[in-house]
Amino acid sequence: MDTGYQHEIPADAKIYIAGHAGLAGSAIWRAFSSAGYGNLVGRRSAELDLRDRAQTFDFFAQERPDYVIDAAAKVGGIFGNNAAPADFLSENLRIQVNLLDAAKDFGVTRALFLGSSCIYPKFAAQPIREDSLLTGELEESNFGYAIAKITGVMQIKALRQQYGCSFISAMPTNLYGPGDNFTIPGAHVIPMIMHRMHLAKAEGAPEFTVYGTGTPLREFLHAEDLGRACLTLLQRYDAPEPINVGCGEDLSINELARMIADVVGYEGKLVNDPSKLDGTPRKVLDVSRLRSLGWSPSIGLADGLKDTYAWFLAHQDTARL
Ligand SMILES: NC(=O)c1ccc[n+]([C@@H]2O[C@H](COP(=O)([O-])OP(=O)(O)OC[C@H]3O[C@@H](n4cnc5c(N)ncnc54)[C@H](OP(=O)(O)O)[C@@H]3O)[C@@H](O)[C@H]2O)c1
Repeated sequence: MDTGYQHEIPADAKIYIAGHAGLAGSAIWRAFSSAGYGNLVGRRSAELDLRDRAQTFDFFAQERPDYVIDAAAKVGGIFGNNAAPADFLSENLRIQVNLLDAAKDFGVTRALFLGSSCIYPKFAAQPIREDSLLTGELEESNFGYAIAKITGVMQIKALRQQYGCSFISAMPTNLYGPGDNFTIPGAHVIPMIMHRMHLAKAEGAPEFTVYGTGTPLREFLHAEDLGRACLTLLQRYDAPEPINVGCGEDLSINELARMIADVVGYEGKLVNDPSKLDGTPRKVLDVSRLRSLGWSPSIGLADGLKDTYAWFLAHQDTARL
């Protein structure tokens, strides 16, 4: 549904990328830099804790950004989320409410809130359309995170309705790429399997256990593609409903593990541990709304995995391991 909306971001606009050092934020930073935007602002959480309302408002008063992209969040994989639902709910709520309230109070021209595909019901019809939001039960393993993100989508809608803010929300599918969090067991599925398989290869382990049944179907998007999509969205999308960001294709966790084994060079046998959490059975986004704006992803999974492993090998001293 291309509404024909076109917005030109001035070349000298001050653009605050919250979470600029993370997987998504660093890719967004690179995408905007490559597009010629040189007035980008970022702060590490140690310098600016967005959970703190006073610090957040002081920062906005000082920097007065024209555009805001919210890629700051407490983020984790299925095991991290399942272990700490209260922290995921509370920290993310505080970060996004402070950031979006400040963006409204300081007259930010456009803001983009990044949610996540886990806002959708566990048994949503596939591929998942944006209008399936709030039509069914959530997946239990990450309900705290999902509720916080749904609240962000609703805050965007409310700010638009009450204050006329030209703010939008985007729901990326599972992301991966250079700069990802490779911690075990808190990370997302790609970096966690990659890191564990890297260790299994180094130890010469004859068998590698893929957690869960290996049957859940998932979609993955390279973070660089997300970065480019964020630029397109600020230029071309202006509606209260969230917009999905993905590639629209999925594969099983076992197929993914096989691809990672090829990239890592792990030659042992892959087995499953069905006693571990599987999460939602299938999660693939309907990306027709985004494609209608002329955007499509450019990095295939096989190339993206190679690129991610190369980064992992080259950053053993600085990566989140
Ligand atoms: N990764 C995915 O698969 C995925 C999928 C869908 C949506 N998303 C969304 O994309 C966004 C970014 O995720 P990501 O994967 O890039 O996560 P990430 O790599 O962990 O990065 C998150 C960033 O948020 C910052 N942050 C966390 N708590 C903060 C706080 N209290 N104050 C200020 N900054 C804080 C961190 O800054 P420091 O490094 O300085 O601490 C970090 O750089 C999130 O909104 C997430 O929901 C991610």
